[in-house]
Amino acid sequence: MDMTVRPRRLRGNEVLRKMVRETRIDSSSLIYPMFVMDGKNRKEEISSLSGQFRYTVDRVEEELEALTASGVGSVLLFGIPEKKDEEGSGAYAEDGIVQRALRFIKERYPQLYLITDVCMCEYTSHGHCGILCGHDVDNDRTLESIARIALSHAQAGADMVAPSDMMDGRVRAIRTLLDREGYLSVPIMSYAVKYASSFYGPFREAAGSAPSFGNRRSYQMDFHNRREGLKEALLDVEEGADIIMVKPAMSYLDLVREVRGQITLPVATYSVSGEYAMVKAAAEKGWIDEESIVCEMAAGAYRAGADLYITYYAKELAKFIQEGRIG
Ligand code: PBG
Repeated sequence: MDMTVRPRRLRGNEVLRKMVRETRIDSSSLIYPMFVMDGKNRKEEISSLSGQFRYTVDRVEEELEALTASGVGSVLLFGIPEKKDEEGSGAYAEDGIVQRALRFIKERYPQLYLITDVCMCEYTSHGHCGILCGHDVDNDRTLESIARIALSHAQAGADMVAPSDMMDGRVRAIRTLLDREGYLSVPIMSYAVKYASSFYGPFREAAGSAPSFGNRRSYQMDFHNRREGLKEALLDVEEGADIIMVKPAMSYLDLVREVRGQITLPVATYSVSGEYAMVKAAAEKGWIDEESIVCEMAAGAYRAGADLYITYYAKELAKFIQEGRIG
């Protein structure tokens, strides 16, 4: 056979395969989402996300111990308040759930990097991500609250804020307020390219944040659109975002690639609750090999161009990286 080019030559053994590997993964780029709730001395498993828990502030340490031991250095915090109201005022309360968690964790784990999800849907009685005007979310009134939430997180010790509400102009509103109040060095990771997705289903059960009527399609994006995703990403760059996120991950890797090619900021992607739940469910049935699927999904995200990967499997991935199974 007269063949000079043989791609298989570089696949001959494991040492060689690793030597020529194109995508390398480091656990310092993993971010672990975590749920904190009001109350005392409770840890509850989330039924739609087996293996994931909600913690009261006084119980978070056991999770943080495991997390830091695994080598994951940052968390994305979500709050689950006891009380909700029309305007989601608990989201910026000084003694709100996220604010208390931040103070508690910062004092005990000063080396852990704390990112907060900035949104209102866990705090509003109607479950929408902003203040309502009739049955629609009032964009510009919501901006004031969103900026106020981000500021209160920074004041309580957040290292970075991550707005996920999808209101127009919120990155600029947050940046302006943070700067005015002296938080110039707190970066904004914008959930810029966020689609209206059924993959968030298990999260909404976890956080009790499903909208009580309608859906989120008037603010989150239509999943048929790619150019619109790029438009959102570019706008948030202009407004002062420091990191751009694409969410969900698995079904949206074309957007990760597109955004990576068009901007110079770090790109994050969030492997959301529905992705985790699907893997768990299939693994529990014995239909797939959970560990290798998790590695393959992560490599796919990084190969597409992600610099940061937000995943409920962060601890496991850090372990797989250390064991050389991936990376
Ligand atoms: C808040 C928010 C959601 C998620 C992250 N931030 C829910 C939503 O937009 O409905 C989803 C995360 C996940 O599914 O893991 N707006």
